[in-house]
Amino acid sequence: MAPDLRIRGRAAEIAALGEALGRVAAGHAAMVLIEGEAGIGKTRLLDEALADARGRGMQVVVGRAEELERTRPFGLLAGAFGCARSSPDPRRAAIAELLAAGGSGEGGPITVTSDPGLRFRAVDAFADLGEELALSGPLVIGADDLQWADPSSLLTLAALSRRLAYLPVALIGCLRPSPRGPELDRLDGALAAAGARHLILRGLAEDAVTGLVAEAVAAVPGPVLLAGISGAAGNPLFVTELLAALAQEGAIEIAGGRAEVAETTLPPSLRLTILRRISFLPGDTCRRCGPPRSWDPASRSPTWPRSPAGQPSACLGSWRRRSGRGSWKTTATGSGSVTT
Ligand SMILES: Nc1ncnc2c1ncn2[C@@H]1O[C@H](COP(=O)(O)OP(=O)(O)OP(=O)(O)O)[C@@H](O)[C@H]1O
Ligand SMILES: [Mg+2]
Repeated sequence: MAPDLRIRGRAAEIAALGEALGRVAAGHAAMVLIEGEAGIGKTRLLDEALADARGRGMQVVVGRAEELERTRPFGLLAGAFGCARSSPDPRRAAIAELLAAGGSGEGGPITVTSDPGLRFRAVDAFADLGEELALSGPLVIGADDLQWADPSSLLTLAALSRRLAYLPVALIGCLRPSPRGPELDRLDGALAAAGARHLILRGLAEDAVTGLVAEAVAAVPGPVLLAGISGAAGNPLFVTELLAALAQEGAIEIAGGRAEVAETTLPPSLRLTILRRISFLPGDTCRRCGPPRSWDPASRSPTWPRSPAGQPSACLGSWRRRSGRGSWKTTATGSGSVTT
């Protein structure tokens, strides 16, 4: 399967991001938040926008928050701006020194998070650096996985949105709907006050999914295969993972330029394959999700375990948010929505 499939759908979102970059090119600030569930395509869209920005000759800095580094102060921004003690740029090296600075006081060790004075110096230092960069030319700051960002980085991004509001700067942030702490709420508020656009990503429309499947299998997908894939509710990650799992099990038959699913029962190993593939989801989600039970010949789709209350299990809530209660089949989902 091709590692990087062509981006499908998302025309409105790509246009909104292009408009934001256009504003920056014209010397203004532009803020955009991209929100949606896991695998829906936030990073992909961010990467497209950053590639566009690079193509326009803009300066690009990008940082991604890590789930396991949520407590590393300023981790997201230090990564984005490349602030390391070894940096050849004295401004970046100085920030790294500041973040590592400390000592001991009467109440114990002093760190950039325990000492408000030190923390505000760090916030100012990032804002100064952003300002200097933006004064030398358009600057695009990408911040991915904000739901895991450390509070200091979120505070600083809010400060940047105010300090850089009159400079050619784009701030593009991506986040899942949860987890969501008070600092993220505050950043959201600051960005809204700065006129940010909020793009909510939903499942890809049916034609976009068909195109994605066709490219992945390099053939025209048949109706049974498409019916099965519709269970992914247009989530591109789930679409490609489900396809990969089917391919791995040899369940897809390609003949005469047409790809179809031959099996009417999901082989047990396929259940495990899919479960393994989605095991990057938060542990609790996966535990509650469980593997699909079988291939439902009536709806021609996988069926999944149900919670004791008889409702679809947790992780499938996101897969199946738009599907009927008892069936796996989904209706067309639209390609997303753009709000301001
Ligand atoms: N519109 C699209 N067309 C084709 N492929 C896509 C599209 N959007 C995303 N993909 C692919 O789907 C996969 C998941 O996308 P992506 O990593 O952007 O999701 P995400 O929303 O950032 O998820 P997470 O919250 O886990 O970070 C990637 O392989 C990506 O290339
Ligand atoms: Mg992502």
